[in-house]
Amino acid sequence: MDIEFVAAGAAIPARTAVARIVFEGEAQEGPVAQAVAASRFTGAKGQTLDILAPQGTDAARLVLVGAGKKDAFNALGAEHAAASAYAGVKASGLETLRIEGIADADLAAHAALGVRLASYRFDKYRTKEPADKKPSIAKTLVVTDAADAALGAFADMAALANAVSFTRDLVSEPPNVLFPVEFARRVKALESLGLEIEVLGEAEMKALGMGSLLAVGQGSIRESQLVVIRWNGAADKSAQPVAFVGKGVCFDTGGISLKPADGMEDMKWDMGGAGTVAGLMHVLAGRKAKVNAVGVLGLVENMPDGNSYRPGDVLTSMSGQTIEVVNTDAEGRLVLADALWYCNDRFKPKFMVDLATLTGAIIISLGNDLAGCFSNDDALAEDLLAAARAEDEGLWRMPMPDAYNKQIDSMIADMKNTGGRPGGSITAALFLKRFVKDTPWAHLDIASTAWKKPSTVPTSPDGATGYGIRLLNRLVRDKYEG
Ligand code: BES
Ligand code: MN
Ligand code: ZN
Repeated sequence: MDIEFVAAGAAIPARTAVARIVFEGEAQEGPVAQAVAASRFTGAKGQTLDILAPQGTDAARLVLVGAGKKDAFNALGAEHAAASAYAGVKASGLETLRIEGIADADLAAHAALGVRLASYRFDKYRTKEPADKKPSIAKTLVVTDAADAALGAFADMAALANAVSFTRDLVSEPPNVLFPVEFARRVKALESLGLEIEVLGEAEMKALGMGSLLAVGQGSIRESQLVVIRWNGAADKSAQPVAFVGKGVCFDTGGISLKPADGMEDMKWDMGGAGTVAGLMHVLAGRKAKVNAVGVLGLVENMPDGNSYRPGDVLTSMSGQTIEVVNTDAEGRLVLADALWYCNDRFKPKFMVDLATLTGAIIISLGNDLAGCFSNDDALAEDLLAAARAEDEGLWRMPMPDAYNKQIDSMIADMKNTGGRPGGSITAALFLKRFVKDTPWAHLDIASTAWKKPSTVPTSPDGATGYGIRLLNRLVRDKYEG
């Protein structure tokens, strides 16, 4: 999608759909006022009114987009209004969308971001889609009083949109295409953004003692990988970094504790945490954030096989702590145990945030619009919740009562890998907490938000969301730069 910021007087190209952002109570003139009078359009948020071949303008179509009360209009309102405008005309056959009615440069930039996010599409495997079903809008003109300022404000937002698209692509790829080595290869290509990337294979991980992560991948013919992504944007290149760790299970069959067939295809999305961490590093580099940051991705495939790990196996993690496996489908925490320990041990970060599609139970607890936030540090948790609120990414703090630790006691090892059904997301978090020492840490269980079928926001099409990039990008920007 091409984006341009133009002045109100700029000529309207042929075959342009004009979307006019309209606030509640804002009066229209002439034939448009007549069309409004013949409808229920009031300018309320979410409303649209489509006017074909409007008289007295060069527009091929005019869409009125309700944006609610003018004094409550903000960045998110601009994104959503622009995204609805795009949705309304994307398959109209017209090539250009012009968005009018947002004077402010920063809000105009957010409108452009809304269009960028809403126009994401993963269609590389469709070979037979009829041309008249494909989106036709290829260019968006955003009208503003200050086009240069809007373009300036849009630079960081374009970096964000690029990163979100990168993550959505990773998460959408089928599991025969995106296995650990291929995931690592695609991340390695981000060196072009100035990121430093190391890829560790199974031999290196074995030498480090990562018996927990390696066990998960041992039933797969695909080699497990640990990817370390570094962005050193702070003035002091040796300043303590912030760190992010992602669960990257490229496909989760459950292993020997095999999942039921229904819906198993969704488990290609089980690398969503690693996808978000990669996307976050992408945006930090893309906008040259003044921070030192590390991303660690644990990439594996969980398969049933003659060489698979078994329920009953006892694993020795890099930390030295032993783990009795009671369910091979509780594999994400085994991957994160070693990835978190390694990250903490090597980088001594200011804090660690891990992201993982860790438990089905978080969907039962919080539904489809909230991820769970578990933390050993109230200040970090508060900062995450505030950033999530500001970016409209649903996040809810969850408790971690010490007493629940007894659910993961093992008869023969230091712990077992599941605590059973009651409080399943909580005992998973308590398990992870054992691998972070005293470092401030938060675990975001994003099983509920990494993908949406169907989507509930106009800026995110059905499927992979890229959840978490925005909130973490804001956390870094507001609290850890300069
Ligand atoms: N990847 C799943 C969690 C998941 C389930 C994500 C559904 C998204 C939708 C995870 O590896 C898993 O299988 N968790 C088990 C844990 C149980 C065996 C303790 C679960 O949630 O059932
Ligand atoms: Mn699993
Ligand atoms: Zn999983």
